[in-house]
Amino acid sequence: MTEDFIVFSGTANRPLAERVAGELGRPLGACRVERFSDGEVFVRLEESVRGREVFVVQPTSPPVNEHLVELLAFADACRRASAARVTAVVPYFGYSRSDKRQGERVAVGASMVADLLQTVGVDHVLTVDVHAAQVEGFFRVPFDNLSATALLAHSLRGRLPEGAVVVSPDAGRVTAASEFADCLGTEVVVLQKRRTSGTETEVTHIVGDVRDRACLIIDDMISTGGTIAKSVEALAQAGARPEFIVAATHGLFVGEARRKLSGGAIKEIVVTDTVAVDTEGWPGLRVVSVAPLVAAAVRSSFGEEEDLERR
Ligand code: R5P
Repeated sequence: MTEDFIVFSGTANRPLAERVAGELGRPLGACRVERFSDGEVFVRLEESVRGREVFVVQPTSPPVNEHLVELLAFADACRRASAARVTAVVPYFGYSRSDKRQGERVAVGASMVADLLQTVGVDHVLTVDVHAAQVEGFFRVPFDNLSATALLAHSLRGRLPEGAVVVSPDAGRVTAASEFADCLGTEVVVLQKRRTSGTETEVTHIVGDVRDRACLIIDDMISTGGTIAKSVEALAQAGARPEFIVAATHGLFVGEARRKLSGGAIKEIVVTDTVAVDTEGWPGLRVVSVAPLVAAAVRSSFGEEEDLERR
């Protein structure tokens, strides 16, 4: 592997950046990230990047705008300091749910973020389970969307109750649910979800039989926890066994999510570390690391490994 690369971490998820750098066998690049008293972001690279490949690890998790601007500042600093190439490693890609105009006179957030990243000089984006794969189309630079399905499914092998089915909480996750079911050798059940407001959803139909079955509900992200809570409710009403396991790539857990999802019929929640998660006081929450997956993708961008497993 070429020696001439450097990995920096923004402030969004330093533990993950450390794990990725550890997998690659080197320390994180030295840098300073500060906030001025008016809230503006200041980033300084404390070592030379001239002519080097740079990887900046920064999920744009909440506070999304803060972390996004920090990432832009990193990329800008790298470009101005003559880096050979800048890869934004954005394990969780904020604004990815805004992938088309939903209503009149509204912005398309993911397109806006793509424009910003490319304008400041990002040459390559690495992400994990982006909410909408078509976000790639907003970029003119390479965009690699890694899949955490195998990792999550592997971590669940031998832990699922007998006869458990995989549940997709909406039509958007059917492909991922089928991949989980293939890995785990079981069937898929699909829920139809309807959004009743910006924060509320309801399940209108269940496609498949869940009577007396335990359920593994999968999703790309858990934000407020509303989707999972409503899914559990609907599945329980349809006669599912009160043994639910949840697997999602991104555990944002904003607002009342913890309260909604702790205890009760949910026996375990597994998420990855694309977003920094605090497991303290939540024994039912387990985190598996995407660091080996991301590090393999970094190596692969130097042409050292086979093509990435992509969605
Ligand atoms: C929606 O399409 C996504 O895949 C997730 O189901 C949703 O964003 C989760 O959000 P929340 O936890 O707030 O329901």
